[in-house]
Amino acid sequence: MTSMFGVVRRIRRRHGRWLHVIVLLSLSACDQNDDWQKFSRLAAQPTTLSTLQREAIPLSEPVRALQAQNPDFINSELVSLGRQLFHDKRLSGDGTISCASCHNVQAGGDDGRATSVGMKGQIGNINAPTVLNSGHNFRQFWDGRADSLVAQALGPVVNPIEMGANWPEVLEKLSTDKVLLSRFETVFNTRELTPELLAEAIAAYERTLITPSPFDDYLNGNTRAISAQAAAGYELFKGYGCTACHQGVNLGGNVMQYFGAFHAVDVGHGQRAGNADKAGTIPVYKVPTLRNVAMTSPYFHTGSVTLLSDAVKVMAAAQLGRTIGDEDVELIVAFLESLTGEVPTHAMKPTQVTFAE
Ligand code: HEC
Ligand code: HEC
Repeated sequence: MTSMFGVVRRIRRRHGRWLHVIVLLSLSACDQNDDWQKFSRLAAQPTTLSTLQREAIPLSEPVRALQAQNPDFINSELVSLGRQLFHDKRLSGDGTISCASCHNVQAGGDDGRATSVGMKGQIGNINAPTVLNSGHNFRQFWDGRADSLVAQALGPVVNPIEMGANWPEVLEKLSTDKVLLSRFETVFNTRELTPELLAEAIAAYERTLITPSPFDDYLNGNTRAISAQAAAGYELFKGYGCTACHQGVNLGGNVMQYFGAFHAVDVGHGQRAGNADKAGTIPVYKVPTLRNVAMTSPYFHTGSVTLLSDAVKVMAAAQLGRTIGDEDVELIVAFLESLTGEVPTHAMKPTQVTFAE
C-alpha cells in the first residue's frame, strides 16, 4: 500500500508546494497513521513553516494571483494560428467583422460600447464582456450557456447580428488561402478545415490572454506594488462582502448570481435589474471578472452604467443592500484600477497578416 508520506511527496513533486500545503491541511483532519505523524512533525518544524508563511498568500485570502504562463504554449503555432483567426474578417459574412472588432485585446478586450454593433451596423442587445482572462471563467456568456471557450467560439460566426456568416462559406473562403492551410496543417496535421478545429485554435489563443496586474504583485508579497488607497480599497472590498461573489483568480467568473440579490435597482437608460420576467423567473448572470474592469466601461450586461464609481454604488445597493459613502467608493475604485493588467506581447494584433484584413 502506498504510504501517506509517499502520496504527499508525489503531490508536491507534481503540483508544487501550495497544493501540497492544501492537501496537508485537509488530510490532517482525517489520517493519523505513523507515516502521517512523521510527516506532520516534519512539516511543523519552524524553518519549514516560516518559509511557507513568508511566501504564502494566506489561505483565507478570497482572491488569488494569476500564475505565470507556460512560454512554450504561448509561443506555439497553435496559439499563433488562433491569434490570426481571431483577427480575421473572413470569418464574417461580408468580410467586415472579426472577433477583435468587438473584443479589442489592446483596449480591455471588449468594444467600449453599451451593446455591440455587428455586421451591417446591427445593434445587439447585450454588452460584450472582455475576452481577457476568459479562460479562467467556469462558463462563457452572461447567462453561462457555453461551457467552454471552444463551444463559445462556434457561436458568433453564425450569429446573424454578430458576424452573420455560415460555416460552409467561411471554410470555402479560408480554404483558398495556401499560407493559412499550411499553417493549419503544421498544427492539426490536416488541411481539412473544420469549425471545431478553427474554434480550438481561437480558444487556445484566448486562454493565453492573461493579464498580470500590479494587484497580483501585491498578492505575491510586494506591498509597494499598489497605492495605499488601492490596498485600503481591497480591505473594504472584502469587508463589505464583494468577495462573496467576486473571488478566486478572476474576481468573478466562477458562479452565477442574481443581479438584484437584495433588491431590484434602476440601472439607468430605463433598465432595471432584479425584476422577474414574464414567467416569474428572476434571471441569473455569470458574475463577471473584475480584472481590467477600469478599461471595460460601460458596465453590466445592459451596458447602462458608464462610471466605475456608479457601478460600485449599484452593486452595493443591489447585491449587498447597503449604501457606500463616496470616500469608500473612491478607495474601492482605486483597488479596481490596480486590476488593470498587461496584455502579453504575443497576444497583440498580428502585424504581418497573410489575409485581407
Ligand atoms: C458583434 C460583436 C461581437 C463579435 C464579432 C464577437 N463577439 Fe464575442 N461577445 C459579444 C457579446 C455581445 C458577448 C456577450 C453575449 C452574451 O453573453 O449573450 C460576447 C461574448 C464572448 C465571450 C464570453 C466572455 C464571457 O466572459 O462570458 C467570448 C469568450 C467571446 N465573446 C469571444 C469571441 C470570439 C472568439 C469571437 C470571434 C469568433 C467573438 N467573440 C466575436 C460580441 C461579439
Ligand atoms: C451577490 C453577488 C455579488 C456581490 C456581493 C457583488 N457583485 Fe458585483 N456583480 C455581480 C453580478 C451578478 C454582476 C453582473 C450584473 C449584470 O450585469 O447582470 C456584477 C457586476 C459588477 C461590476 C460590473 C462589471 C462589468 O464588467 O460590467 C462591478 C464593477 C462590480 N460588480 C463590482 C462589485 C463591487 C465593488 C461589489 C461590492 C460593493 C460587488 N460587485 C458585489 C455579483 C455581485
